[in-house]
Order: sequence, then structure tokens, then C-alpha cells
Amino acid sequence: MKVKLIQGFSKLPREEKLAWIRDNHQVTEKTLDLFRRHLHSDPDLQEIYGEISENNISNYFLPLGLAPNFLINGTLFTVPMVIEESSVVAAAAHAAKFWAVHGGFITEVTGTVKNGQVHFRWSGSPETLHLAFKKVRNNLVESIKPITRKMEERGGGIQELEIRSASDKLPGIYQLFVTFLTADAMGANFINTVLEALAARLPGALDDAGVEGSAEVIMSILSNYTPGCLVTCKVEAEASVFNGIFPGMTGREFVESFRTAVDIAAHDPYRAVTHNKGIMNGMDAVIMATGNDYRAVEACAHAYASRNGTYRSLSAVELEGTRFTFTLEVPVAVGTVGGLTTSHPLAAASLEILGGPTAEGLMQVIAAAGLANNFSAVRSLITSGIQSGHMKMHLGNILHQLHATPQERVLVQEHFRDRTISHSEVSMFIESCRKRKKE
Ligand code: MEV
Repeated sequence: MKVKLIQGFSKLPREEKLAWIRDNHQVTEKTLDLFRRHLHSDPDLQEIYGEISENNISNYFLPLGLAPNFLINGTLFTVPMVIEESSVVAAAAHAAKFWAVHGGFITEVTGTVKNGQVHFRWSGSPETLHLAFKKVRNNLVESIKPITRKMEERGGGIQELEIRSASDKLPGIYQLFVTFLTADAMGANFINTVLEALAARLPGALDDAGVEGSAEVIMSILSNYTPGCLVTCKVEAEASVFNGIFPGMTGREFVESFRTAVDIAAHDPYRAVTHNKGIMNGMDAVIMATGNDYRAVEACAHAYASRNGTYRSLSAVELEGTRFTFTLEVPVAVGTVGGLTTSHPLAAASLEILGGPTAEGLMQVIAAAGLANNFSAVRSLITSGIQSGHMKMHLGNILHQLHATPQERVLVQEHFRDRTISHSEVSMFIESCRKRKKE
């Protein structure tokens, strides 16, 4: 079946969208019905979900899980997590429970500055541009007060504006680099509105300065690289608390092995990417649960991991005598008001479970979830290996995919109690059970 070009898909009512899919794709009525069955039975809720993004035909569910026992700066949190990967929530909960009785997570927000850029071409010299900008800077900021006033009342607004040059690589190209505080909002809309307002005024304002040269705006957009919106999170303990963490391993052996594993991620980009992916497992799940933009945080985290020219781990271990300290430092630009954090009913509910945090509070919870998952992953890697725990969690998915009956599930659980689990092994085992039953 050949898919035909379609005009006006977005304007079709849902049933007509489904009919078009049926007529142009190899999709059965059963599949169409699946789309219908995933619509919410409450029309008000369905309307909300239907308005989140465009062209939708159904809803796509992911589980919302809770990781309790997160002791962060002396307060206990129950952390909501949305993720498709089995074992992430369990790993977070496991680490949280362990650290809750060993001092918990100590977090600190060291900055909440965000940035944006108006890129433009300047026909004059760098000197005339700097001179002109000096003359017009204050008027420019004053002229957009109607846009910034409300944010200023909430403690945010524009922090600094400066001209930066890209002329060494791109002749004639400059940018107006603007830093912002956005209070409890992630602030993307505010920043982009301000930047576009500045961009609309910039050429005229520079003309009025009466120097040689003119500006032509190329584009204006926030930067998702926010190294000034930074949170640190650490856990620390004496090596002896890890005594017996794994059969035959002393606490000292554990922390030394742990440090080596993290040091490897500090030097080898192949390992660092996977190490950081383990951190993002925890961070993204909380970011998703609270309706924030995980792509923005991901992109920024990876750029931050490369800030010294080589991609490195975002976390580090210090071992001073017998004292083990495990620290994560990562930029996290998120909000707790506006956008999906308010309009997605379950994002708002997740924030309620967290006690209605400020943006800074949420940054700290996200960092703690990242460090918790990182701790669990490295702990497994240097002891049992990742697969035994992971595959046990994954077994449920495999059994579901193979449509295992309750009796078959019991047989599988028994058979694989001390065997290696893999999709093919489980599948073969179930098939042999089914064959035996027929005979
Ligand atoms: C899997 O989702 C994450 C890990 O690969 C992280 C790591 O290797 O540190 C287990």
C-alpha cells in the first residue's frame, strides 16, 4: 500500500484521521480500535491531553512510578518518575533507601542564570558597534519594560546584555548575549519573547546612535546551554558502611573499585557517555514526571560534560582516607510554574507530591535522582553486573510479550531463579512448557 500525500491532516476530526490511516497504511481495524481505547474516558481530561501537541490520534501511556525515601538536605521526598525503562525507578528507590540512613543527599543550587542570543550582522567595525551599543543599551532595556515588568516583580528579568563577536570565524557576525533570571518558570517563552522584542528594536536603536555601520538581525533564540543554572549533589560515608554490600567484598574494596569505575568515566568518552546516560535515567524520569523539557536538560548536560574539550563523567568520587564522597554537578534548567508543569494534570500532581517545590527545589530533587541512579548503576557494575537485576525486572515485560499464563509465570520464575534470563531463553522455556502440556 502506497501512502498518498495529504493536505489538511491537522484539520481532520479524529475519526477521519483514523480512516485516512486505515485507507493509506497497512493498519488493521484492531489497531485503530487500540488507538480509540487509549483515549481517556473523561472527555475533559482527553481535551487537555489532546491539546498538548498536534495531529494526535490517541494517547501514549508510560507508567508514573514513585521512588520513596529520598532524604535531601534533611527532608524526606517521595520522587515521581516517568520512564519506559524497567529497573530505573527500582534503582532510584534502592539507592535512596540506602542513603536515607547514611546522611542522605546534600544538594546546593549554585546559580539559576539562563541565556539567550540575538545573532546579527554588523556592517561597520567592532569599535563602532561597541560604541553604539554603549549609547543605546539602557534605552533598549527600558523599551521592553512592558514585557519584563511582570517577571521583575517575581524576582526575575534581564541580568546582563553584552555584545559578543563571532567575527574571527564568521566575518561581520555578532550577537547580543543576554542573561536572565526566570524565577520559578523554566522561562523559555519569556526569554524568547524578550529576545524577539530586542531583535525588533536593535537595528533602529543602533542606527540612532549615529555611528558608521548598520545591523541586520539573523535570528534570536534562547540558548539551552545553561552552565550558570547549576546544581551540585553529593553523598558521603565512611568506607566501612559498605562492608558486606556484596558477598566477599569489604567496604574498602567497594569504595576503591567504585572510585576506579568513576575515574574510567572521567577519562574515556565511550564509558563516560554510558555513565552519564545512567545519571540521565534518573534525571529525565523526574523531568518527565514534572512536565519539564528533558531534551533541553539532556542537550545541556552533555555540552557541560564536554566543557573542558573532552566528554567526561558528570559525577566524581573523592576518597580521603576512609571517607567516600560521590558528587554530581550538572546544569538543570527547569520550572515549577507555567507550561506543561501546570497544564498536564499528572505533572501538576507530581509537583504536589514533591510538596510544591520552587524551581531551585526541583533542580535539587532531579540532581538527587540522577546521583541515586548513577550510584545504583556503578554499584551493580562493580559487583553483580548489571544484567542479573535488570533482567529480573525485565522478565515481567518478556512474560507479557509472550502472553504467559499465570501457571507459566510461576514455572518461569522457578526455572530462572538462579539462571541467566534472556528473551530467547525465556521464550524457549515457555515453548517447551506449552509443547509438554499438549503431549
Ligand atoms: C542503563 O540504562 C544505564 C547503565 O548502562 C548506566 C551505566 O552503565 O553506568 C547501567
